[in-house]
Amino acid sequence: MSAILQLENVSKSYDGVPAVRAVDLQVADGERLAIIGPNGAGKSTLFGTIAGEHRPTTGRVLVNGRDVTKHRSSTRAVAGMSRTFQVARLMSTMTVRENVFLAALTGGRRGVRWWDTLRSHREVWDETDLALADAGLLELSDTVASSLAQGARKTLEMAMAVVQRPAILLLDEPTAGMGYEDARAATAQLKALLDQRRDMTIILTAHDMEVIHSLAERVVLMANGEVVLEGTPDYVARHETTKTLYLGQGAS
Ligand SMILES: Nc1ncnc2c1ncn2[C@@H]1O[C@H](COP(=O)(O)OP(=O)(O)OP(=O)(O)O)[C@@H](O)[C@H]1O
Ligand SMILES: [Mg+2]
Repeated sequence: MSAILQLENVSKSYDGVPAVRAVDLQVADGERLAIIGPNGAGKSTLFGTIAGEHRPTTGRVLVNGRDVTKHRSSTRAVAGMSRTFQVARLMSTMTVRENVFLAALTGGRRGVRWWDTLRSHREVWDETDLALADAGLLELSDTVASSLAQGARKTLEMAMAVVQRPAILLLDEPTAGMGYEDARAATAQLKALLDQRRDMTIILTAHDMEVIHSLAERVVLMANGEVVLEGTPDYVARHETTKTLYLGQGAS
């Protein structure tokens, strides 16, 4: 299988303090990878270097063999990368439907192709409504984003990322801040949504083992900025290293 994403010796420091240290990683086209690790392990920072929000202090990021290390996140979006954030980022005064419409209209590869500006808005609204249905958000279509509960905010952000048809979807803690019931429902919803798009490569971070077991095929464990273990979800979950690292921290 060909690698859609490669990290070579990627490090990232904040004011000289290392948060990610010499990470090498290959992600195959269509793979579903989870990056796990205790709080402060460097998961979100690693995500930032993949998505282009942070320029790595050392190393290279390659998408389909092409060096994108110096490309900003907007350029990487054009190359087919879309992400969600640990804390959802939405247009808070707009409705759920308007948020998804805007994502469909302007997001990813689409917004920059001149012929797309000629596409009728009707077509984009149709795509929007399909995305809302797929994400189970139809009932909340006319709700203003600022009044959504945490779980629905995350689902909306997910729908906005998926409607952009990314080749690589990056999900940072898709169930962060949710209670047990909401997290279970959101995971099932997300799995259904993603299973319709088997061609999409998915990289997610999570603490929640149920999220990892239901969404990931391979797991990379990070600690202190480094990759310390990798394997199937079962292998990593049962490994002593994982248990030791998570000991006393609880799921969050
Ligand atoms: N913008 C920043 N400026 C300075 N230090 C930062 C910044 N973001 C993260 N850090 C530090 O980098 C380290 C890694 O943080 P990061 O957020 O990547 O971890 P994480 O694995 O995503 O943690 P969590 O599970 O809590 O989300 C931590 O020590 C953190 O304090
Ligand atoms: Mg994080």
